[in-house]
Amino acid sequence: MSSNTSNNDFFVIKALEDGVNVIGLTRGTDTRFHHSEKLDKGEVMIAQFTEHTSAVKIRGKALIQTSHGEMNNEAE
Ligand code: TRP
Repeated sequence: MSSNTSNNDFFVIKALEDGVNVIGLTRGTDTRFHHSEKLDKGEVMIAQFTEHTSAVKIRGKALIQTSHGEMNNEAE
């Protein structure tokens, strides 16, 4: 795996409501959903970008922490 495409940083997603979806999108020319994880309120997911995952889409209210800072996608 090239160090250009990913690093070892983890990001943290904490669900602020039931049914938050964390969707992993594939790396490469074909960008598609490959994994969907459902979190209920208070559940936390800790993940990384990998050889297989280049982007993550988060649906629902969540607190998101990355090396770039913390954000809250509360606005609906
Ligand atoms: N099998 C996936 C991978 O190695 C697991 C994964 C890693 C993932 N990071 C993710 C799934 C972020 C969803 C969101 O890439």
